[in-house]
Amino acid sequence: MELWEAIKGRRSVRDFLDRPVTRETIEHLLEAAIWAPSGGNAQTWRFVAIIDPTEIKKIKIVSPGLLGDPAAVIAVCQDLVQARAKGGNLGETFLAPIDAAMATQNLLLAAYAEGLGACTIASFHRRGVSRLLGLAEGIEPILIVSLGYPAQLPTAPARRREGVFVFGASRE
Ligand SMILES: Cc1cc2nc3c(=O)[nH]c(=O)nc-3n(C[C@H](O)[C@H](O)[C@H](O)COP(=O)(O)O)c2cc1C
Repeated sequence: MELWEAIKGRRSVRDFLDRPVTRETIEHLLEAAIWAPSGGNAQTWRFVAIIDPTEIKKIKIVSPGLLGDPAAVIAVCQDLVQARAKGGNLGETFLAPIDAAMATQNLLLAAYAEGLGACTIASFHRRGVSRLLGLAEGIEPILIVSLGYPAQLPTAPARRREGVFVFGASRE
């Protein structure tokens, strides 16, 4: 798929077909995720994929932002103990969430290229998701991604440009 088509065509999908997504496909998407840049090349991200419908239902209960019935949910996590060990306070509090977001965008674009729909979700109960996933101490979910074959693609929300693109003042 052409890069610009992926960047502009990707949408946040919240309406999914009742069709499973294979483990191989998910692994393929996670391969795209780990090719994202990471601050200091820390690579302290961790990904937990859930394909069991009962587990997904439980995650939905603690995730008000997770809409629709996706075939899979991927928790994009960070090992904050390692992030601190590698990058100190900056690594833990600043670089780690940025890295997770960058990995998430790669995942979303790869999903779109595979004909899948996905949505980034920040509105979820962090401790609830951690407990349901049985995450080890120090591993924190930063974002979750819902994933499945789209029932329909939403129309693109308009992008604002005015006042968004600014060139710095010339010194000459
Ligand atoms: C950090 C972040 C958090 C988001 N959280 C949610 C969420 O909790 N639930 C949801 O349905 N969409 C969520 N979204 C998706 C946005 O609503 C969506 O990206 C935006 O409306 C633009 O639409 P588009 O992704 O189709 O271009 C989130 C997106 C980002 C980047």
